[in-house]
Parts: sequence; structure tokens; C-alpha cells
Amino acid sequence: MAEHAYDVIVIGSGAAGLTAAINLAERFRVAVLAKGGISDGSTAWAQGGIAAVLEPGDTFESHVEDTMIAGAGLNNRRTVEYVVENAPAAIERLASLGVPFNAGESDRWHLTREGGHSHRRIVHVDDATGWAVQQALERAAAANPNITLIPHMAAIDLVTGRHGQRYSGDGHVWGVYAVNRQTGLVDLFTARATILATGGAGRTYLYSTAPRGATGDGIAMAWRAGARVSNMEFMQFHPTCLYNLEVKNFLITEAMRGEGGQLKLPTDGHRFMPDFDPRAELAPRDIVARAIDHEIKRLGLDYVHLDISHKPAEFIIEHFPTIHARLLELGIDITREPIPVVPAQHYTCGGVLVDLKGRTDLPGLYAAGEVTQSGLHGANRLASNSLLECFVFGAAAATHIARHWDELPPAPPIRAWDESRVSDSDEEVVVQHNWREIRRFMWDFVGIVRTTKRLERAQHRVALLRREVEEYYGNFRVTPDLIELRNLIEVAGLIVRSALARKESRGLHYTLDYPDTLPDAVDTILTP
Ligand code: FAD
Ligand code: SIN
Repeated sequence: MAEHAYDVIVIGSGAAGLTAAINLAERFRVAVLAKGGISDGSTAWAQGGIAAVLEPGDTFESHVEDTMIAGAGLNNRRTVEYVVENAPAAIERLASLGVPFNAGESDRWHLTREGGHSHRRIVHVDDATGWAVQQALERAAAANPNITLIPHMAAIDLVTGRHGQRYSGDGHVWGVYAVNRQTGLVDLFTARATILATGGAGRTYLYSTAPRGATGDGIAMAWRAGARVSNMEFMQFHPTCLYNLEVKNFLITEAMRGEGGQLKLPTDGHRFMPDFDPRAELAPRDIVARAIDHEIKRLGLDYVHLDISHKPAEFIIEHFPTIHARLLELGIDITREPIPVVPAQHYTCGGVLVDLKGRTDLPGLYAAGEVTQSGLHGANRLASNSLLECFVFGAAAATHIARHWDELPPAPPIRAWDESRVSDSDEEVVVQHNWREIRRFMWDFVGIVRTTKRLERAQHRVALLRREVEEYYGNFRVTPDLIELRNLIEVAGLIVRSALARKESRGLHYTLDYPDTLPDAVDTILTP
């Protein structure tokens, strides 16, 4: 088994991981692991932009209030204030790294608008902000001799005291075991500090806007290592994913509604959002997604329409060049006709509990970005607050590690990965079948509208599949697909447990059995 020692290991190469690595590399040798290509996370797919108070007349208080209203009061106000106040500096830093944010006619920034924001607040690079951000961060990381980018290295499990050659039960994290996708061999990465930046768990659901690798690996690894996990019931469904039989996960940015796009029934063209909320198409995402779900079920539709064709063609093409070009390829001209859309899973609001320094419960383990529950999002994330969270917490974790370096002991000798009792799988069909089954029952039973009975059905299936997957994992050599399946079932279990524990409807968690919101907003916290 190959062993690699670094000062810090960052697991994940999206906005959170690369931000942490770039900050750390001023002093430390950092390895950044990615399960696939370096640009394969959600970051590169982000469309709308990044929220920050930059408009004259806008205030931090207003951004804080909008975030708390969208989050149905479950947010931690201190965290929200911390992130909002650090947002303008984070945007400046990205601009200094070369992110070509759009400029306004007479202002430094062109700010667009998204649901739940009471001001124009979203800086963006056309409708492909994430790609520009990912490229700028990758350029900075690749140019830094202290950073080693290691693609195609899938983390399996965190290394803790119980993996030491002398057993220690203190829960300290010393790095990670990971399987090299190209050789199939397991490597050991050790470090004084480890940062989880593995993104969300969208692929627990059949339909999701998230990339293939969003299987909740970091949440599952931290949970198995002994860290608490919180608010997993709050899975965000984006209201407008393209409905297309071949292209299943193409997002239509919320900024399109921000710039005047309207939701209409395909049957008679009725604009239905004003019937549900005075903010119409710009209500927070949970409300818009539920309204679409309601209309689709009520009328037996496959989709509803998002229509921006009443705006001038030049305006549409200037604001949404990527979406316009992609949909033209699929035979839809958005300057002349509406877009068929459906809600799809989009963002994981819950995750590994962290404090304002990005510390988890486990010494030596930090986390940042979509893998975490930092207190920012509460019961529903406000649009374009999540890239922001990655920059602020990626930097916070790096700062804390640098300030407390001398208190972080070096890794002890760690045991090699033991493959003596496993063989190569002879039944790959089990992995593929179980993967599909999880995503299907999570979609059907743990979706936008829930009931206790449906959640219990999901719970039974989780228990059954968990036994099967654990047996399979115990007998066969690890592969990236098997690692993901094991994590998917772990995370599905955490989502269902959290949803069953919440006896109210709040934000994204809406259950017909408990339709009211309780007076006190309380986090769901699961302890291993
Ligand atoms: P990611 O960017 O997802 O990166 C995760 C990294 O972890 C990847 O490098 C992956 O390879 C690695 N990884 C995962 N598991 C393992 C493992 N086992 N071993 C090794 N590496 C692993 N947010 C906004 O604020 N504004 C937007 O406009 C916006 N638009 C979005 C559009 C789409 C289509 C989607 C899906 C999301 C959007 N979001 C948006 C959300 C936002 O993009 C994500 O929350 C954010 O990019 C997450 O960044 P991250 O660094 O936490 O994780
Ligand atoms: C979008 O562009 O609609 C996505 C924004 C987000 O997820 O924050």
C-alpha cells in the first residue's frame, strides 16, 4: 500500500476545498483529492451566481433577514451574520484571482436577482458563474508549488485513532484511505489536519441537478468516524430543472425568474404563482417547488412552463447565453417559446456539524461547503448563498489550522489497508440494482411532500439494503461504485431518520401528518 504524508489533506476540489487549499498553501504542503476529475463537483455547474451586499441601498441586515426568512427561522443568526459580512471581501478575492464577473452599465458589478432576495444581490459571470469560479481557483491551485492536486482518488474512510498501530479511541482524524480509480489500489494519506469538502448528497434522489459524484461521501465518512450530523431532512428541490427525456439534470437558473421569467400551466397558459404567494415566481424555492408539485399532481401534468419569451430576444441571449445555446441544441428557442420544467433535488442543506472555524466534533477534522451544516441555511437555503458559504468556511478552516498548527500533533504510525479476506466482486449487478433502488424510493417516499407512512416505508427499505450492502462490502474488494453505494445508503438512512424525527412542517420539510410549524425552531442533531 502506498503511503503519502502531507501537512494537510483536503478531500474535494470544488469551491470549498480549493479555497481552503489556496489559503493553507502560504505555509503548508497540501494534497487535494478528487474522486473524479478536478472540475467534476457541483461548483463548476453553478449558474446563477454568488450573493453579496454590493448594491447601494442594500444592507447586511437585509441579507441576514432574507436568509433567515428563507430558512424558516432555523438558521443560526451568528453564522448568517458572519457569512453575510464576509461576502463582499470573498467576491473581491475571487475578482483578484481573475473571475470575470459581469459589470453593470455604470457600476463595477452587474447584480441579478433571485427568489427570496429583497435586493439585486447576485454577482455572476453570465449564466455560467460556477465554471468561471472553478477555473480561476484551479489556476491558482495548480500554480502553487505547495499544492498537489490528485484527481481520480476516491476517499473510502477517514483514518482515526482506531486505525493506529497502537489503538487509540480518542477519535482524532489523521487522514484518509482512498482508492486510486486508475490502479484499483488503496492508498493511505496522512496529515495533521484533514478538511472534508466533498459536496452534497443529491444523487440519493432519482432526479437531481447535481453531478454524478454527489453521493454524500463526506457526510457518511464523518458519521462513521463519530461526528454528529444535522438537519438532513432539509433536501432542497430546485423548482426549474429542464424536463427532457434525454437530458435529465439541466438546471434553468432562478435568475431567469429574477429577470422576469413566469411560471405558467401548459394547458391554458395561466400564470399560477400569484395564486400561491404574493412574491409570485420570486418566493423562496421551497414554496415555488411545492406549488409546481401541487399543480403537476392536481392536473396530472408531466411539467409546467417557464416562459421568458415576452422579453426582447437580445436581452434573453445577453443574460442567458449558455441556457439559450443548450436549449437550441435540444430544439427549444427560449426567445420564442416556453421551457418545460419540473422540480428536482438540488442542494443538501444538512450535513456534518461545524462551528464558525469549520471544526467538526473530531479533533483534526474540519469541513466546509455543502458537506456541512454550519447554521447558515436553516430549513431552506436562500439562492446563491452556498458558493458564498464555501469561500467563507474554506478560508475559516484554513485560518484556524494555521493559527493552531502547533497544537495539531503529527500522525502516529497507521495500519495498512487490509484486503486479505476479500475477493473481486462476481455480482456487479447488486451494486447497480441497489443504487437505482435507493434513488427511486427516496424520490417516491422522501420527496417534496412527505407523510409518516411513506417515510416508514423508506426506513424499511433502508434497513434491508443496508444489510445487503454491508455484507457485500465485507466480502469484496472496494471499488468507487461500491464506496458510493455504501455512502448513499448511509445518507439515505440519515435523511429518513431526521425526517421522521421532525414532528412539524418547516421550510423544505413538509409533511401532511404535521402540517403546522412549531413555535420553537430546533435543529435535528444525530449523534453516532
Ligand atoms: P463540490 O463543488 O460539489 O465539490 C465536491 C468535491 O468533492 C469534488 O471535487 C468531488 O470529486 C470531491 N469528492 C466527493 N466525494 C469524494 C470522495 N469520496 N473522495 C474524493 N473526493 C470526493 N450555489 C450558488 O451559490 N449559486 C449558484 O448559482 C448555484 N448554482 C448551482 C447549479 C447547479 C446545477 C448545482 C448542482 C448547484 C448549484 N449551486 C449554486 C450549489 C453550489 O454549486 C454547491 O453547493 C457548491 O458548489 C458546493 O461546493 P463544494 O466545494 O462544497 O462541493
Ligand atoms: C440557480 O442558478 O438557480 C441556482 C442558484 C443556487 O442554487 O443558489
